[in-house]
Amino acid sequence: MTSSVVGCRIAVAVCGGIAAYKVASLVSQLVRLDAQVDVLMTEEAKRFVSALTFGALTHRAVHEDPWQLDNQGEIAHIALARSIDLLVVAPATAHTLARLAHGLADDVVTLIALATPAPVLLAPAMDAGMYGHPAVTENVTTLQQRGYHVVGPRSGRLASGLTGLGRLAEPDEIVAAVEALLHWRRDLAGVRIAVTAGGTQEPIDPVRFIGNRSSGKMGYAIAQAAVERGANVTLVSAPTSLPAPPRVTQVAIQTALELREALHGLLDQVDVIIQAAAVADYRVADPETTKIKRSGEALVLELVENPDIIAGIGALPQHPLLVGFAAETGAHLDEARAKLRRKGLDLIVFNDVSKQGSGFGSDMNEVTLVPARGEPEVLPLLPKLDVAHRLLDRVRDMLQASARSVL
Ligand code: C5P
Repeated sequence: MTSSVVGCRIAVAVCGGIAAYKVASLVSQLVRLDAQVDVLMTEEAKRFVSALTFGALTHRAVHEDPWQLDNQGEIAHIALARSIDLLVVAPATAHTLARLAHGLADDVVTLIALATPAPVLLAPAMDAGMYGHPAVTENVTTLQQRGYHVVGPRSGRLASGLTGLGRLAEPDEIVAAVEALLHWRRDLAGVRIAVTAGGTQEPIDPVRFIGNRSSGKMGYAIAQAAVERGANVTLVSAPTSLPAPPRVTQVAIQTALELREALHGLLDQVDVIIQAAAVADYRVADPETTKIKRSGEALVLELVENPDIIAGIGALPQHPLLVGFAAETGAHLDEARAKLRRKGLDLIVFNDVSKQGSGFGSDMNEVTLVPARGEPEVLPLLPKLDVAHRLLDRVRDMLQASARSVL
């Protein structure tokens, strides 16, 4: 099988750590796979390996100076940022991880990371237990939440002679991660997708609401994954604490009725709707316009049913491809299948939210993809971004197989 790397433009950003010498082997492998590789180096990286090494391997000028213009007179690293399919940062040192997490822009590496719309793969490496320091852990988590991908580090003998977590992933492993990321490259180009995320909030009075435990992480991961694959994404989001993924059009909603209105407004502008939002089934019949005060008596709230938004769209004679979620506690696949049929969906993502380490609030999810036609696909426990990509693989296949000629 031909490698997905063939013909791709990859930028490799080298930072100042002893593992920088191994990146020469990574770059060489990528070049041999027929990628066009541009190397960027921090000043510190050049203490470990010379720019000449990478220039000789890539047959291309190495980016070291943020003020350098290219042949067309454009700032070189900005033009590069716009043209690449992937940015790999290796070794991603503690210092560069911190600078990336804080959005600093003080050298070619941090500048290209801020400027590029391409996915970013970090390969951290550092000595002396630094990787376990809460400051580093937090920075890595922040970057992952923003959609950066991470490979390694591995445990083993470190340059200092200490043993621990901090070795750069082997070049083979980094190449495999690069291939996996490029595999999806732009396979959803031009597809218009609406993703909903988060838990709706149904007001009781101006300061209180009925909510649920949805963090929005799954919907945000789908939005990000779809953007990485070239889709035009509208993210209809209930309030969450998550930063908006880059390059999505975000529509803020609070209640189920607002969510329905937003989706109906998008109906003839999208090819796919992925309803990952946790929609409240009930709302307060008549929310108070002023804050409810204690009265010493019991308080009874009257709730009325919210419309089933996705079922309403599924019942229309014509509608975009519809994906729903069935977050259940201990339910069976049959119930998910019944829900899929009842709501007129093309695919339902079934997950048991009572399982430890998966579902609400977690960064991981363990789901089964249940299509209207074809066999269910049981996925292992995976980061939500990986679940998102597996789901989008099915969406792509369904778009290709259907009369919807968007792909
Ligand atoms: O809550 P339930 O299990 O029925 O949700 C299954 C799917 O239906 C989810 O995708 C959810 O977002 C959607 N839903 C909806 N409108 C509701 C309730 C659920 O669109 N009122």
